[in-house]
Amino acid sequence: MCGIVGYIGHREAYPIILKGLKRLEYRGYDSAGIAIYDGNDIKLSKTKGKVADLEERLEKEISTNGTLGIGHTRWATHGVPNDVNSHPHYSNSGDLVIIHNGIIENYESLKKELIKRGYTFKSDTDTEVLVNLIEDVKKKENIKLGKAVQIALNQVVGAYAIAVFDKNKPNEIVVARLGSPLAIGVGKDEFFIASDASPFIEYTKNAIYLEDEEMAIVRRHKGVKIRKIKDDSLVAPYIQELQLNLEQIEKGGYDHFMLKEIYEQPRAILDTFRGRLLSNEGIIKMAGVEDNMKKFLNANRIVVVACGTSWHAGLVSEYIFENLARIPVEVEYASEFRYRNPVINENDVVIAISQSGETADTLAAIKLAKSKGAFVFGVCNVVGSSIARETHAGAYTHAGPEIGVASTKAFTTQITVLTLIALRLARAKGTLSSSDYRHHLIELELIPDKVKIALESDAYVKTIADIYKNAKNFLYLGRGYNFPVALEGALKLKEISYIHAEGYPAAEMKHGPIALIDENMPIVVIATKKGHYEKVVSNIQEIKSRSGKIIGIVTAGDEQVKNLADHVIEVPETIECLTPLLTTIPLQLLSYHIALMLGRNVDQPRNLAKAVTVE
Ligand code: F6R
Repeated sequence: MCGIVGYIGHREAYPIILKGLKRLEYRGYDSAGIAIYDGNDIKLSKTKGKVADLEERLEKEISTNGTLGIGHTRWATHGVPNDVNSHPHYSNSGDLVIIHNGIIENYESLKKELIKRGYTFKSDTDTEVLVNLIEDVKKKENIKLGKAVQIALNQVVGAYAIAVFDKNKPNEIVVARLGSPLAIGVGKDEFFIASDASPFIEYTKNAIYLEDEEMAIVRRHKGVKIRKIKDDSLVAPYIQELQLNLEQIEKGGYDHFMLKEIYEQPRAILDTFRGRLLSNEGIIKMAGVEDNMKKFLNANRIVVVACGTSWHAGLVSEYIFENLARIPVEVEYASEFRYRNPVINENDVVIAISQSGETADTLAAIKLAKSKGAFVFGVCNVVGSSIARETHAGAYTHAGPEIGVASTKAFTTQITVLTLIALRLARAKGTLSSSDYRHHLIELELIPDKVKIALESDAYVKTIADIYKNAKNFLYLGRGYNFPVALEGALKLKEISYIHAEGYPAAEMKHGPIALIDENMPIVVIATKKGHYEKVVSNIQEIKSRSGKIIGIVTAGDEQVKNLADHVIEVPETIECLTPLLTTIPLQLLSYHIALMLGRNVDQPRNLAKAVTVE
């Protein structure tokens, strides 16, 4: 978590860093700070709260003349969110200043040593320990900042992306990464540093992504020198051209990123199968799958590892892979898998799903699976992310940047990629007849337009949101392919409205949750025509006879559920395995509207951050 940003060049650093922090605020937003070198000294301002709170203070506290600076937006790990714990942090002498994303696990023992050596600490953070460790090494050895950073980092256990500068050497910023992302934007006589490319996209399309265990000295006129932290070897910088554009990272007329991203889903799904689903030729082409077809076909099973919404997409894929390709699937929380000594070997294919490609638990699960000989395939959204690089092969979702903290288009595009893979494997294995296969391709191709139709329910969903916004609890029920959608609907509501919600397989209701039902309990039931329809209708009857309030998500034209439910929201008809791509839409809208009506910060819900780079 946390967003870091830096600038060194010929422009004023302050506005670049401030704007960059606003773009990175999705990564953490409990405090923020900026340090600028103004030609004589470091000007530092930081505060608990959002970047907007910082902005108010900055006008008074920061000189705007400097051309070197760093900034940070925080998701607290060590030390509560307050002004003192906010970044940047000074070293004891006041010469060095640092920003850090990650966790220094051995900070307590390092701190004890530094205290013995006379260092004092103002904050509770691991970061202040790191900057003083660097200072201590620098003074003891009488060496330059870059070398001191390298020696200090070799004593550190944990994860980091850091940027640090020395006010006595105001022509360089030293950066390093291990486990947390760090990009360097390369302009003409200027350099940008950031957790992702969004803070510098309007200045340059050229970027270097540091690899784990690399550090770089970024010099004002001399460029970037990259070294391996462990063995000091030089690394030739690899400059990539970014595909990202400014429009993709702005709200484009929507009030919130979440709403924009919900509405982007028809386009995002289309982008996901563009160039892969060739319906005229009746084929699916995915390089990562074709190149590793033997591994997939010989696999004893597929093990999916993921967290949160991505885990829900994995659960949907369990149904898809098993039904279409007849491959057994297990879906694991990455955080449990990594610590469980799982039985896994070279006959398993592991699919790691992650929007950000940076989730620490998923990354650790991948490393574990690789160490046991499994072939690991990544499904990521962020191009060049750690997970995309750590996996043997993979497929990007091509959803475009997802900035709202609540995942929306990432979910539907993950399901789309996983469906494409399952269909391709089904064809190769012969578990689907060629006419069934073609039928699936045609239906998949129709999904973007059907999502557009599902989005037309928005105004009606808003009226439902208004009726139930003050409910204390919600239940979400679904069966088969739509059981994971029920889980996802409940998660969406919880995370942005702070209303307690639970998702269940509809038939499980009788085994406990039914006791919760009374006239105050809204229950969202996914009851599309395909898949266990009659069974779900029986569940609805059971709810009705206990006076629960029923919000049905139904196939267009459904009359039976309409007669039973308090409200029905229609989605277009499709084949069963594709229904999650449609039934998810009203659930996203419902949580969005309820959260908004309750005055929540939809894009930045409390306690959360977009990329969970700590375990
Ligand atoms: C929920 C949400 C989280 C993420 C989870 C995994 O809306 O966004 O539950 O899905 O933190 O993140 P990724 O997919 O980036 O690995």
